[in-house]
Amino acid sequence: MSADHYDGPRGLSRRGFLQTGGAVGAAAAALAVPEGAEAQSWAPTGGSLTGTRFTLNGSERSVTHEARVTLLDLLREQMGVTGTKKGCAEGACGACTVMLDGERVNACMVLAAAVDGREVTTVEGLAEADGTLHAVQQAFVDQDALQCGYCTPGQIVSAVACIREGHAGSEAEIAEWMSGNICRCAAYPQIVAAVQQAAETLGTPQGGASGAVQFTAPAAARA
Ligand code: FES
Ligand code: FES
Repeated sequence: MSADHYDGPRGLSRRGFLQTGGAVGAAAAALAVPEGAEAQSWAPTGGSLTGTRFTLNGSERSVTHEARVTLLDLLREQMGVTGTKKGCAEGACGACTVMLDGERVNACMVLAAAVDGREVTTVEGLAEADGTLHAVQQAFVDQDALQCGYCTPGQIVSAVACIREGHAGSEAEIAEWMSGNICRCAAYPQIVAAVQQAAETLGTPQGGASGAVQFTAPAAARA
């Protein structure tokens, strides 16, 4: 039985799961930040509190949180923005990768208070408002670049930055510059292929490694 024809526990084939968006959900998670998410289940445990105002996926957010809280826990536990995953919680796996002012960081290694006045982009912020996937998300679907999907949000955010940085010129370069994102399912060949596909779609970045880099579409796409 091939993996493509395996019927999962709910009767969904793996490829059908991908095509109907289930894997996109796993890979890209929810596409919108829920309104009023700050009011969800998280509650302070008595530590000193601080306030942080920052831009999350294009929306201004203001939250009060314990000063010791990491950006990862703020997003997941307090704000209900769970696309970003927690793996090692010590900066070693890349599952928690987000962009901070356009540069990729491990959210488990960043204090929430440190993002005050800054711009955070998670996997939820990549797709268009109408649901159209970012080119990197689409490439991960096209290339079957996931198995369990747990590492995938971090891989996708990291890949967006990798391409913007101009580090997607070859398989070896992609492997090197994506090496901070671990995949326990070892989907690396497909991940590299997805980054290559997205880089081709997005074109050559202009202007260095800044998050403000603008993509120039390849000639074929401009024609
Ligand atoms: S959870 Fe942050 S690097 Fe592993
Ligand atoms: S797809 Fe399972 S850890 Fe990467």
